[in-house]
Amino acid sequence: MSSPFFIFLEVEKVKTILTGIKPTGEIHLGNYMGAIKPALELAQGNDYAPVYFVADYHGLTKQTDAAEFKRLSYGVAATWLALGLDPEQVIFYRQSDVQEIFELNWILSCLSSKGLMNRAHAYKAIVDENRLAGREQDHGVNMGLFNYPILMAADILMFKTEVVPVGKDQIQHIEIARDLAESFNHQYGETFVLPEFIIQEDTAVLPGLDGRKMSKSYGNTIPLFEDPAKLQKHINKIKTDSLPPEAPKDTENSILFMLYKEFATDVEIAEMKERYADGIGWGEVKRDLFEVINRFIEEPREKYKELMASPATIDRILKEGAEKARTISRPFLKEIKDKVGF
Ligand code: ADP
Ligand code: TRP
Repeated sequence: MSSPFFIFLEVEKVKTILTGIKPTGEIHLGNYMGAIKPALELAQGNDYAPVYFVADYHGLTKQTDAAEFKRLSYGVAATWLALGLDPEQVIFYRQSDVQEIFELNWILSCLSSKGLMNRAHAYKAIVDENRLAGREQDHGVNMGLFNYPILMAADILMFKTEVVPVGKDQIQHIEIARDLAESFNHQYGETFVLPEFIIQEDTAVLPGLDGRKMSKSYGNTIPLFEDPAKLQKHINKIKTDSLPPEAPKDTENSILFMLYKEFATDVEIAEMKERYADGIGWGEVKRDLFEVINRFIEEPREKYKELMASPATIDRILKEGAEKARTISRPFLKEIKDKVGF
């Protein structure tokens, strides 16, 4: 109990900040810039007690291949660790190792109206798509997907989370968690903390190979820990216009430049701007973009590979994290169950 984390909790100076990433695909540069990097920065200072996890049960809503599911789950954990998450400073676990979350999930389900879930954006989007395609409205919807926001509320409420850093698409889920917390508190007395979300407004939405938001769903990603040769290949696929090399170019609408400035130094960025203005060939920009991205991922990529080759190390770290998490979730679930009347 002597880790800095517990000292923080005991004096209650800091806010609990919690976030999860689900193992549904290869982690890409956009996930790093938009989610992992800001979360690691928030974990650095003394303002927050961070609780970060692999949202594997959420991932299961989209996965039926056991071997792939396992590989992706280890991949998410190894990514956080390779990028510098310190398990001594962060409570870091696999959602499925903290059973109390799933008991709370059921309790919250019984407080949640079905109508609230019908109105959840992610579900509604699928229904709309099915209608448009002339299919039955719930085609392809499993109950895990339908109940997804309730499990997410359980993740958040279990640890009396005050702050949840998420992307804009997740705001409604935090609002649902607040609604469920309020319903419970109203019914059974003050128990849950109402969480707030924080959106990293200043964080860039990284474009993908085709210029749309880099996303697993669009198949336009640059996976974070790609080998150098593959990384160069991905970069070569990035869309450019057909201007000749000597023509002056605009940095504003250049996907290559948008990516470059996320990884280059200030001096390099200023130089690249000049080179654009003077006229530069796209091939040259692509080579330089490769250099700065590769420079950035070189070290974490090695660490990632080492970890992926040693799942037992990842298991040990996550199990220890789950034990820490359960020192909070066990007594709190007991309190919750007492209130409900078990
Ligand atoms: P994907 O769109 O690839 O499926 P997720 O929805 O699983 O990614 O997102 C996980 C986290 O990564 C979220 O916090 C999201 O905001 C962030 N993220 C995803 N894509 C990008 C991007 N292109 N730029 C910035 N952040 C992103
Ligand atoms: N739904 C989140 C996403 O798709 C992942 C997630 C699961 C999560 N549980 C959470 C995020 C709790 C924040 C808090 O990105």
